[in-house]
Amino acid sequence: MQFFVDTAEIADIKKLYETGLLDGVTTNPSLVAKSGRNFKEVVKEICGIVPGPVSAEVAALDYDGMIAEGEVLAKLADNVVVKLPLTFDGLRATKTFAGRGVKTNVTLCFSPNQALLAAKVGATYISPFIGRLDDINLEGMELIEQIRTIYDNYNFTTQILAASIRSANHVTQAALAGADVATIPPSVIYKLVDHPLTKNGLEQFVKDWKSTGQSIL
Ligand code: G3P
Repeated sequence: MQFFVDTAEIADIKKLYETGLLDGVTTNPSLVAKSGRNFKEVVKEICGIVPGPVSAEVAALDYDGMIAEGEVLAKLADNVVVKLPLTFDGLRATKTFAGRGVKTNVTLCFSPNQALLAAKVGATYISPFIGRLDDINLEGMELIEQIRTIYDNYNFTTQILAASIRSANHVTQAALAGADVATIPPSVIYKLVDHPLTKNGLEQFVKDWKSTGQSIL
């Protein structure tokens, strides 16, 4: 499973990239607003840090606007993935970009039918939002399972990018359900390494090692 970080915060992206765990980055208008940075500048900077796919979302809602904005975004760096909303205009723009060899991420997916449409127009990634479905008392993870089945039934190559991940358990469940990628907030990525038995075991090893009085170097 590939790990993308879901943020526009440069410090977190740098720190996580150094761990070797990061395969890509996703941003969205809310994350850009939170960063307080200029959108195009921050996307360029992220693309210079992480060589993998970096999703940058269009703001336009109409087809012509999406194409115009997507072209600008795609020119910012070779690894930009143009993020488009799951609307008919967004799907049409996805088809156009697919024909031009531009990678796309179709976002705000909340149903298997929406995911089917995105695959049919040749989306590179589909982003089902797990946490937001959980928020309204639905099973977000069921959607990942359903999309996995549909895509496998027809050999669609669109990659399932589990988004709106809110917990370490979401990451486990998305991996079990066969998501190709999880885009994860930095706070959740840091939590993935934690286990109380690892912490306790390490404390004991440190103590016992000190008692030997030895040094490896
Ligand atoms: O990648 C989409 C993600 O940023 C949405 O997450 O927590 O705002 O639902 P959330």
